[in-house]
Amino acid sequence: MRRLLFLMAALVLCFCGCREDVQQQKKLVMATNATFPPYEYVDKGRIDGIDAEIVRRIAMRLGYDLEIEDMAFDAVIAAVQTGKAQVAASGITVTEDRKQKVFFTDSYVIAAQVMIVLKNSPIKSAADLKGKRIGVQRGTTGESYVKDNIQEPERFQNGPEAVTALANGKLDVVVIDGEPAEAYVAKNPNLKILPEPLVQEEYAFAIGKNNKALLDKFNAELRKMKESGELAAIINSYRKTRLIVVFPANSGTEKLYTQSVLEQIAERLKFKIEFQDGNLENVTAALNVTRKQLIVPMIPLTAEEENLFPNVGKFTAAEYVVVVPEKSPILKFSDLNGKKVGTRKGSFAEHYLEKHVYPPQTFPDAATSIAALSAGNLDAVVIDKNTALNLLKNNKNLKIMPGTFARETYVFAAGKENPDVLKEFLASIKLLQSSGELNAMLEKAGEAHKTPRQTVAPVQENAPAMTDTFWGSIKFSFYNNFIKDQRYTYLVQGFFVTLQITVLSVLMGIVIGFLVAVVRSTADITGKLKLLDGLCRIYLTVIRGTPVVVQLLIIYFVIFGSVDVNKVLVAVIAFGINSGAYVAEIIRGGIMSIDKGQMEAGRSLGLSYGQTMREIILPQAFKNVLPALGNEFIVLLKETSVAGYIALQDLTRGGDIIRSQTYDAFFPLIAVALIYLVVVMFLSWLLGRLEKRLKRNE
Ligand code: ARG
Repeated sequence: MRRLLFLMAALVLCFCGCREDVQQQKKLVMATNATFPPYEYVDKGRIDGIDAEIVRRIAMRLGYDLEIEDMAFDAVIAAVQTGKAQVAASGITVTEDRKQKVFFTDSYVIAAQVMIVLKNSPIKSAADLKGKRIGVQRGTTGESYVKDNIQEPERFQNGPEAVTALANGKLDVVVIDGEPAEAYVAKNPNLKILPEPLVQEEYAFAIGKNNKALLDKFNAELRKMKESGELAAIINSYRKTRLIVVFPANSGTEKLYTQSVLEQIAERLKFKIEFQDGNLENVTAALNVTRKQLIVPMIPLTAEEENLFPNVGKFTAAEYVVVVPEKSPILKFSDLNGKKVGTRKGSFAEHYLEKHVYPPQTFPDAATSIAALSAGNLDAVVIDKNTALNLLKNNKNLKIMPGTFARETYVFAAGKENPDVLKEFLASIKLLQSSGELNAMLEKAGEAHKTPRQTVAPVQENAPAMTDTFWGSIKFSFYNNFIKDQRYTYLVQGFFVTLQITVLSVLMGIVIGFLVAVVRSTADITGKLKLLDGLCRIYLTVIRGTPVVVQLLIIYFVIFGSVDVNKVLVAVIAFGINSGAYVAEIIRGGIMSIDKGQMEAGRSLGLSYGQTMREIILPQAFKNVLPALGNEFIVLLKETSVAGYIALQDLTRGGDIIRSQTYDAFFPLIAVALIYLVVVMFLSWLLGRLEKRLKRNE
């Protein structure tokens, strides 16, 4: 009995230990499914993305502490409906069905469902989908679209899982949201997105129907963010549209200058930028398969090269003119040959003059060069037209030669399915030009270029050389799955969660099982405790008659429906109650296996029923059931792998998170399996020793 009390005390202590700290600020819980880049994804153990960022900012402004809960997508809306979370932000499409359950804020983005297929797939459009193996993410609008318009889809826990199945030939197509699709495809070179989207949608945040006040506050903040442009800036900053700059092999000194100009533009417009040398062909190929990520500027681009690109847009950043004295003998540009020509150091004009063999004299700024021209030290000056017009306002002895001497033109190209991004990009640069920002950038580029800078090496995400050989690719996978971004920590942390749940529920299971077994066998032997016995039978029937995942979900979503409760505690309760039923039957079996004569002998020695039970029957029973109990704990350890259903990050879920980031099934799953295996082997060994010890004590 004392041991039992001790066990219970230990349990209580453990529960207290896993209680969360008391909150000081108001807490706002956001439900999401972080497998959906760029909207929500796990990055270095933290949830990031457009949704996370927007909600983080709104929460901050409303004075909340934000807590983000990562769960299956089909639990996200339910979470706000039941009050587990106050806001759901998960790339959620606004639909009539969902409006019955939750409030939606104003929408913040326009989206679409698209089809991902293998590169050589015969599927060309929605018309080809019938009878194909179609994968979707469970609970999404993609799922309902396929179900309502085509056929029953195959449902996956999340997008990356469906995409992995597709890449491994287990599916013919995945129907999923366009932007995550781009992120998935970017990591799977044998996949592509079909150009024609299936349906357009709008994303919004969901808020519980009992929380109109929060809805209004959210909408107010969202509107402010829309008006100030903050919202667009956040979204663009996560969209990672890439600007790939290809320099022709013979680009000379102007390369650094150009690089600097484009870097500044990219930074301002929130584009990722990459520089590459030569090889236009490669870029063209990349450009035409990616729906909207690439824009390629090249200087210069021959007419022939222009034909490589279906969408080309030119943009002239500046026009350069020649300034000469009123009565100059220089009448046409070719007269500049052999003359003293001045320009601003580092400017595009300097490079241009050098390239066209009019070696210039350079000055720190345009004004000084004009002064030198006025003073008669130069024959001509080449500067940009606007600057020239300004400087010549008060200088009547100088004039601008008719015509444009050189144009600083940038050529941008986009893939064939992608005219919009090009238009948007050109429009944004025009804005920069009219606000004067672009000019400042050009000047800064000239300045920057005076001190030589390092050329940026082309960015290669998956170092291909490493993956050429068999071992090389194993090494690379290993690195990618475990070492990169410290992904192994998902396994380590998950392992401790699994261990914590298992140990605590084993203890709870023993306590429950022991009590139930004693009640049941006492009732059997003595015919007393009828009521308790009845309750115990119901408990055994219900618990052993339903799956543990369902019990776990019921405890989490129904019993603790609207209570903010520690999830480890929920898991321990669920697995503990579950295990208790099996332990009870094991122990009862043990008790019943002891010869009836033993009880009679104990009683005739003058011991009470309880004493006989405790001193004679139970110790023997325990020894007999040890192997069966050990087995039960091994089963329990593995059963906790469904804890991910309530978004606990246990060992199995840790492996899932890695898989969703690397799209690799082999290494994460094998690693998870090995860890379970090692623990089970250790447990078996421990039990073996315990059995031996007990035998020796006989
Ligand atoms: N937009 C789709 C929907 O609302 C899919 C959203 C999936 N979101 C996610 N975070 N996995 O059904």
